[in-house]
Amino acid sequence: LDNGLARTPPMGWLSWERFRCNTDCKNDPEHCISEQLYKRQADLMVSEGYRDVGYEYVNIDDCWPAMERDKDGRLVADPVRFPSGIKALSRYMHSKGLKLGIYEDFGSKTCAGYPGSEFYMQIDANTFAEWEVDSLKFDGCNSDPKDMPVGYPAMSFFLNITGHPIMFSCEWPLYEIMHKLPVPNYAAIRSSCNQWRNYVDVQDNWDKVIQIIDHYGDDKGNFSAFAGPGGWNDPDMSDYRTIAKTCNIWRNYVDVTDSWDSIVDIINMYGKDEGNFSAAAGPGGFNDPDMLVVGDYGLSYYQQKAQFGMWALFAAPLMMSNDLSSISAEAKALLQNKNIIAINQDPLGNQAIRLFEVPGSLSVWVKKMASGGSAIGILNVNNQGTPQKYTTAFSDLGFTNKKGYVVKEAFENKTMGKYALDQAFTIYVDPTSIFIMIANPL
Ligand code: DGJ
Repeated sequence: LDNGLARTPPMGWLSWERFRCNTDCKNDPEHCISEQLYKRQADLMVSEGYRDVGYEYVNIDDCWPAMERDKDGRLVADPVRFPSGIKALSRYMHSKGLKLGIYEDFGSKTCAGYPGSEFYMQIDANTFAEWEVDSLKFDGCNSDPKDMPVGYPAMSFFLNITGHPIMFSCEWPLYEIMHKLPVPNYAAIRSSCNQWRNYVDVQDNWDKVIQIIDHYGDDKGNFSAFAGPGGWNDPDMSDYRTIAKTCNIWRNYVDVTDSWDSIVDIINMYGKDEGNFSAAAGPGGFNDPDMLVVGDYGLSYYQQKAQFGMWALFAAPLMMSNDLSSISAEAKALLQNKNIIAINQDPLGNQAIRLFEVPGSLSVWVKKMASGGSAIGILNVNNQGTPQKYTTAFSDLGFTNKKGYVVKEAFENKTMGKYALDQAFTIYVDPTSIFIMIANPL
């Protein structure tokens, strides 16, 4: 979206994955969704150095409003959990050099059942601007995804005409994808049968044949996708270039959870790059593989390194969802690793694509950088307990500079040396982790 915002992937903190819809401030005052939570995380973002390395947005997610709008149809923050109101919270963030993000939903209700923006989009856009909010995450529960190609651009327009800059984070492609998922029965059928009849009996007459052809043409539930090896592909999906004109960042896959399986699943989806969605990433608009769970419960240090490294290569928004008051020193150092952040924040905004993978083992990813060099990630999803040896040469990776490359390991900023184009070299990638190198042409 060409609104001057998100020229590089936005960075910050978002409450959802870590704090969910905990509204029980009576029993759990430290962790419930309340102004105290956001203020505390903001304070830590400043005092612990996150702001100084680029983390900027402090984002509210679901469960912040009161259950009813006011008499003029305006949203109201829950008066018990947000007694000072959202405008005061925005101002608090601004006084610390941070920004406040808020959450709403395209449909009649948010996913957790709070009032949605359906029929109130302009009022809500004006309310958020009046509250001096700096970004909006717009969810898609309780709506008809068929309305999204009109509705999301409408909200983008309403935000724009407020005149207040609001970074727009959409879940539009995710809900379109989920809605268009083939009817689940076909998956079950496919796993049990070699062939299956799915329409009326054929007869020896032309009309019946046309009727059957029409049924196949309609392809309800996208059943054609279950034929043959390979996945489904839906030409009805909104074009990513259209989405990129409306949104600054957009989610296109399921919610991240605090587990390695979830991280690998998301990475695989980005690796498949169906419809070439990586090409839509660039200054002003980025694909969003969802929050960072670095510093939480579920990933080992090596796996946290893999998530952070991959998200950097993806030019993904770096939105931490963790408790900054209790994260390990290792996780903090990772999240503040300047070399990895620089890969993510590279002004070209290029999203890494997967060059190739050995399923269950190594995959190689390349992100082009503004300098003319590249960041190359070698991800090892194998959990056999010894580092995986990988021998390659730049020519094998499709690089072409005849003079060769000067190479550094990125996490530690260690010089690896100079390599001729077809000179073989070997690296070792830790189990369920990543090795990233920066290669610049000589
Ligand atoms: C679904 C979204 O994908 C999540 O990130 C989160 O915002 C929840 N809804 C909130 O209900």
